[in-house]
Amino acid sequence: MLVCKESSRLCSTLSAWRRQDEKIAFVPTMGNLHQGHLSLITLAQKKAARVVVSIYVNPLQFSPDEDFASYPRTLDDDLEKLKNIGVDLVFIPDTALIYPQGEQQSCFVEVPVLSHIIEGEFRPGFFRGVATVVLKLFNMVQPDIAVFGEKDFQQLLVIRQMVNDLLLPIEIIGGETKREADGLAMSSRNNYLSASERKNSRLLSETLCLCRHQIEQGMAIAQAEEDSVKSLQGYGFVVDYVTLRETTALTAVTAENCDNTDVILLAAVKMGKTRLIDNLKFVYKPHINQAKA
Ligand code: PAJ
Repeated sequence: MLVCKESSRLCSTLSAWRRQDEKIAFVPTMGNLHQGHLSLITLAQKKAARVVVSIYVNPLQFSPDEDFASYPRTLDDDLEKLKNIGVDLVFIPDTALIYPQGEQQSCFVEVPVLSHIIEGEFRPGFFRGVATVVLKLFNMVQPDIAVFGEKDFQQLLVIRQMVNDLLLPIEIIGGETKREADGLAMSSRNNYLSASERKNSRLLSETLCLCRHQIEQGMAIAQAEEDSVKSLQGYGFVVDYVTLRETTALTAVTAENCDNTDVILLAAVKMGKTRLIDNLKFVYKPHINQAKA
């Protein structure tokens, strides 16, 4: 496994692979790798001859009150995991390479609308930071395919829109969310949870499952969302949102415009100082549902 910190070694290796007509798949990460990340890499390995993984904790996507300084950095462990799983190349750029002018003085990528709703309302600047760093990484790696997790569903859609709008010749693939045995979606931030907070955190995915069930049983969407918020608050979460959206532009779902449509319940909560997000996809069939109510 090749570990590159500079772009020259990265470029020469990628060129050699391209000369041999080998497809390149790319999985960008911020490190502190868990089974969720590794599952994306396994998916990438099925799709391409070569897999590149990047590890870079991107300052531009953290607001000043977020956890950039304390974000877990576990490079030695990460490299061990990547070597064991058979990754071809790990790219570990530093900030001088990604933001030569400093991150606040750099050009940025703004994906309109999608970046400012739901998660974007609670984390202004977050998707700008994500889109900007991902475009820079795409420009350096020039992959044929890139894999992102559905755990961060809105992020996946932001990247898809950026790729479409900027005509990048990259296929974006979504990988399913990996969960702990009790249903909690894996996340590097789960490490922040105390033992009792960790125990309660399973109630986030449970609440989303119950919300889906209530909607499938014919409960009005707004009522089901509100019930979920109240339940989560009762369990000790501070709730940012629980909202049902369709899965392409994340517009609101109504019984009139969304019959037999793929929908997704999106939620963000805080448990103590730890912010958790999760989602649940299903097909919304209001006519069948209303008949049940
Ligand atoms: P990070 O949080 O490290 O996640 C890297 C990738 O792993 C993302 O595509 C994310 O959606 C995916 N992922 C995280 N948890 C997952 C889980 N439980 N199951 C499956 N996939 C999961 O997301 C980022 O980094 C950054 O924003 C990045 C895209 C690297 C840009 O800086």
